[in-house]
Amino acid sequence: MTLPKHIAIIMDGNGRWAQLKRKPRTFGHIKGTRVAKKIITACSRRGIKNLTLYAFSSENWFRPQAEVSFLMKILRRYLDRETENLVKENIRFSVIGDLSRVPADVYKAILQAGEATAQCTGLNLVFALSYGSRQEITLAVREIAERVAAGELSPDDIDEAMISTSLSTYPTPDPDLIVRTSGEQRLSNFLLWQAAYSEFYFTEVLWPNFTESHLEEALSAFSVRQRRYGKVSTNDNLEKLSN
Ligand code: FPP
Repeated sequence: MTLPKHIAIIMDGNGRWAQLKRKPRTFGHIKGTRVAKKIITACSRRGIKNLTLYAFSSENWFRPQAEVSFLMKILRRYLDRETENLVKENIRFSVIGDLSRVPADVYKAILQAGEATAQCTGLNLVFALSYGSRQEITLAVREIAERVAAGELSPDDIDEAMISTSLSTYPTPDPDLIVRTSGEQRLSNFLLWQAAYSEFYFTEVLWPNFTESHLEEALSAFSVRQRRYGKVSTNDNLEKLSN
């Protein structure tokens, strides 16, 4: 089976899952964190090289203060409790996003987890946290423009590779597969540039109900997709086109 080198997941539906159970939204986030743990381990054991999880978007700051604080608290708790396990499983942890907005204790936990796992060579686990793709692209453009203004670069030097390497995701390869749970079919400001040739897998399953067998289904669906990157792939296709 062809495995994606990089899976990116939009873990959606925690709130609706909790509402269906007549529980507060926070209950959904707690279950969602447990599911994230299981899926991280499953990806690591299957030999996936890169996994990006959309843990908190730049737009999520506009949620009610109590929910934002709760999400920050569970992120910190996740890092405090899991870092040792990440090291054991040889998983390297890092974050992309605007960390200037994150509370100091969460920021510290992120740095600690990053340092503790820096030498790990297995799964590259990235949390997109306080992340927005337009903001990421804007920062990259600004940085390149500053280099042009300083005379270090000419506008002609700017190419796709330079933009890719100026994004916060570098050097993680672009995602081969983007999964979104809960029936929504949109990117919501996630990896816009990097998703140019990604395969998408949408499932109705709410994130707290997502299991390893759902991951298996997504991987099987990916393995039979034909990725042509805008080209034609086989002689069959060429013949069809010429007829
Ligand atoms: C979307 O559900 C989920 C989030 C905004 C947060 C995702 C966070 C987690 C799964 C927990 C933290 C993860 C880790 C790994 C520590 P929603 O609240 O938008 O659900 P809804 O669309 O049903 O309202």
